Parts: sequence; structure tokens; C-alpha cells
Amino acid sequence: MSKITAAITAVGGYVPETKLTNFDLEKMVDTNDEWIRSRTGISERRILKEPGKGSSDMAVPAIEEILRKKNLDPKEIDCIICATVTPDMVFPATANIIADKIGATNAWGYDLSAACSGFLFALSSGAMYIESGRFKKVIVVGVDKMSAIVDYTDRTTCIIFGDGAGAVLLEAGEEGLGIQDSILKSDGSGRHYLHMKAGGSVKPATAETVAAREHFAYQEGQAVFKFAVKGMADVSAELLERNNLTGEDIAWLVPHQANLRIIDATANRMGLDKEKVMINIQKYGNTTAATLPLCLWDWENQLKKGDKIVLAAFGGGFTWGATLLTWAYEGK
Ligand code: UT7
Repeated sequence: MSKITAAITAVGGYVPETKLTNFDLEKMVDTNDEWIRSRTGISERRILKEPGKGSSDMAVPAIEEILRKKNLDPKEIDCIICATVTPDMVFPATANIIADKIGATNAWGYDLSAACSGFLFALSSGAMYIESGRFKKVIVVGVDKMSAIVDYTDRTTCIIFGDGAGAVLLEAGEEGLGIQDSILKSDGSGRHYLHMKAGGSVKPATAETVAAREHFAYQEGQAVFKFAVKGMADVSAELLERNNLTGEDIAWLVPHQANLRIIDATANRMGLDKEKVMINIQKYGNTTAATLPLCLWDWENQLKKGDKIVLAAFGGGFTWGATLLTWAYEGK
């Protein structure tokens, strides 16, 4: 029996309408448009402003776009994996809430927490259910409402993040198309550089933790930057090497959108021209688990069956990795 591969067969996305521009941020913290653009590449981000709305409210329209495109009954979905660090609630899992909202009554699912590498880790996990033959239709969604955990008085962190959701459908790939190889890594000793101090079991929420602003994302930017540049570039280069590929063989690099300088370093290390790198950081900022599928969403109509694509990410944990896939359909 030939090996089953897992292929992305549809993409959906959602970003909220409200824009938070660099000029808006100038009025909130001591920063300026020129600094933000030159240090990060970001001009604006999207923010989910409506009270009472959470990550599931962005994941649902992203997945519903897939259902429409594929003319799929939500009852046909076997499994939903939701990568997020901003779940609707600590529990139950946002995947359950999404399944309920879209009517995926036959699906099981769970949340996966790997920060900015969440989508990549979830994609690999979902792919294994397809490759094993156990399930036929798996939805992988990366979603984060970072505005819920960003401290808008911390100028080094608040300028980066935005809200959004991106989703893919995984099915058995024809002719070996789909996910070919992945290198995934984590190193918990990096947890000190990027985390949320309170609200977990070690330090539950109290009036003091709220007053000390410990329920926001805390980041030591420079340290994370150094690890990110090396981590993302190293695994991407290793992935090419062990598949006997060079930058010339790659149609597209889909990098995590945290900082344009990290993206450029990864592309250089892979020997890739800038035109082959998906970059939308200028309009969405860093949407954490949503950056990779939002790139696929924005570029879908340029993708061709057979394109070799590398997805690469680095995030809190630390977590990082790269995945090589052969695109399975004509995007147009
Ligand atoms: O996605 C998950 C993983 N996260 C990342 O990959 C993020 C990685 N880190 C970064 O992207 C960058 O470290 C940041 C964009 C967060 C910060 O950029 P940086 O070039 O590392 O800045 P820095 O923290 O080294 O600060 C340089 C200077 C400092 O001033 P002095 O000490 O040199 O006078 C900061 O106080 O820039 C100052 N600064 C700012 N100035 C204007 C820091 N933030 C701002 C700001 N506006 N928003």
C-alpha cells in the first residue's frame, strides 16, 4: 500500500476590521511610526474590539470560508485542532467552542499551546491523523486575540502584536502531494524570556497580580530576537539540506511574522530571493498562531500545484520549527 500524505486542500482566514496604526500607538505610548517600521516592518495591526468576542469568533469565519469553498457539511469534519495562547477561556478548549458554533457535531478536538509555533505544531499533529488513515478531514486553525493580553503601556511589546485567525483543511494528498517533512523543536529553558507571569496554577489571579500587570504578555525582546534569528534560520536550512534541496527549488517561504529582520535573516540563510518570501507583517503585525495560515490565505491565488513551500516559525517556549510541503492544488 502506498504511503498516505496529508495535504492542505483549502485555506480560510479572518482579520477584524478595526485597525490600530503606528500613528494610533504614538498617542498611547512613547513611540513613533519611523521606529516601529524600521525595527519591525509593521505599519498597522487588526484588533478585535467588540466586547464579549474572543478567539473563537475569529476562528469561526476562517473555517466557514473553507466550508463554503469546499462545499463541505460541517458534520463531515473529523477533528479540529486549535493552536492558540489566547483561548476563549482557560477551559473548555476553544476547539470545542468552535465545533459547537460551526455545527461540527461529529468532530473531536483540542487546543494546542505552542505560542507562535502553534500552527506549525498543530499542522504536524493533524497531518499524522491523515497519514495514519485514521481520519479524513482535519481542520487546523491558528488564532490569537493578542490584544486581550497585550499591555498597551509597554512600548516594546504592544507595537508588535495584532489579532487574527487562519485555518486549513487537511485531507489525504493525491500523488504524494502535501506535507513532506518537518523539524520541530522546543526548549523550555527559554520560558523566562516570553511568558505570562500570572493566571496559571503557579500564580493564580489575585488583586495583586492584576495590579502588578502580570496578566499581560511579558517579553525580553532582544533575547527572543537573538534566539529567533538563529532558531528559524537553522531549522529551515537543515530541512532543505536533509531533503537535498536548495533555495532555488523552493517556490515560497512562509515565515512567522514577528519581525521583518528575522524574516530577512531566514530567507538569506536559505538563499532565497525576497520575491519568494510571503510578508504581510506590515498590515497585520504579529498575530502569533495565525501568521502562517494568514500568509497562505493572502497568497492562495498565487500558489500552484507542485510548488515546494517551506513554513517556518519561532515563538515562546521556546518553540520553533520548519515544515516542507508540496502544494496540492491550483490556487486560482
Ligand atoms: O513572535 C514571538 C517571538 N517574538 C519575536 O520574535 C520578537 C523578537 N524581538 C523583536 O522583534 C525586537 O526585539 C523588538 C521589536 C521587540 C524590539 O526591537 P529591538 O531592536 O530589539 O529594540 P530594543 O529592545 O533593543 O530597544 C532599542 C532601543 C531602546 O532604547 P535605548 O536603551 O537604546 O535608548 C528602547 O528603549 O529602542 C527603545 N525602544 C523604543 N523606542 C521607540 C523600545 N521600544 C520602542 C518603541 N519606540 N516602541
